[in-house]
Amino acid sequence: MAKYEIVTIDGDGIGPEVCQSAITVLKEACGSDLLSFSSHEGGADHYVKSGHVLPDDTYAACKAADAILHGAAGMPGVTYPDGTEVGNDLHLRLRFRLDLYANVRPIRLYQGVDSPLKHFQPGQIDYVIVRENTEGLYASRGGGIVLRDELATDTIVVTRKGIERVARFSFDLARSRTGAPRDGKRRVTVCDKANILRSYAFFRSVCDDVARSYDDVEIDYAYADAITVHMLKRPDTFDVIVAENMFGDIISDLGAGTIGGMGLSPSAELGDRHGLFQGAHGSAPDIAGQNAASPLATILSGAMILRWLGDTHHNGTLRDTAHRIESAVEKVLAQGEYVPRDLGGKASCTEMTQAVCRALA
Ligand code: IPM
Ligand code: MN
Repeated sequence: MAKYEIVTIDGDGIGPEVCQSAITVLKEACGSDLLSFSSHEGGADHYVKSGHVLPDDTYAACKAADAILHGAAGMPGVTYPDGTEVGNDLHLRLRFRLDLYANVRPIRLYQGVDSPLKHFQPGQIDYVIVRENTEGLYASRGGGIVLRDELATDTIVVTRKGIERVARFSFDLARSRTGAPRDGKRRVTVCDKANILRSYAFFRSVCDDVARSYDDVEIDYAYADAITVHMLKRPDTFDVIVAENMFGDIISDLGAGTIGGMGLSPSAELGDRHGLFQGAHGSAPDIAGQNAASPLATILSGAMILRWLGDTHHNGTLRDTAHRIESAVEKVLAQGEYVPRDLGGKASCTEMTQAVCRALA
């Protein structure tokens, strides 16, 4: 049986705790002969010690790995001279250098979790935000202009290639799902501001070009301002949402807020050959080292590793194991005996990890 090499980067704050938790669950679910893990340095703390946020040897290991599992990165006050945060540069360097163009953010309400959207129950909020991850407004990262302490600009950059591939990814994803909860329709909703800016009108037109090859998947559109209302008033109409980088960053946190918060928000940042998996939350330095963080977003990101490896290598065992981990998380949440602190409970990171491992059995 193939052994898949997983590079892990603990990172900063709660990163080491939640990363270790996901490794524990993956080992419990997969046994010892399917995955091998190797830990590497990176993040703001490492930058303070070494001057490198992403050391060359870590990058080389990531490039050679079958998948990358990351805890969290970023520490307040650790910034570059231009004022931008160092820790976040770990993600951005990996995204751009490994060309991880699809940032996949599932938004799913699990049994046992109360949504602030009181009219919606588990099963009614189940969609995926696909955020273009290598261009858009982020193309200006490190390249903006600051002039005489009077003027600053950043430019949005969208390319036909960049839009085509993330749109194709989104339509393929919709084809693999069972449609929006409300009507079961396979649908890609394009989030943009095509009514105002040519760049977004171009984004929409390229999505339209791609849609013509998917007559079994519906395309619809929502402006970035309007979609925030729709995500609250009718989240059950969404199946897959595709958005430019900055809009995707913003609406994915709103989506997470509707299903229990960032503690239940996994992510898979995928290119054609590499995948970076992490909880979409931050490093939460205020609770670091207290065994207080919820590991569920990172555990669910671990499940996304298995599903992606299973799809990539046509390995049904890996896909089934991903489902087992997601079901174990849902079982723990539904039972309600162990509730993480971000959901109003008292369970520690260790207790949540052990509860998920027991639920796997
Ligand atoms: C995210 C984060 C990142 C982003 C930061 C950590 C670079 O907010 O992954 O959503 O801005 O994309
Ligand atoms: Mn974000």
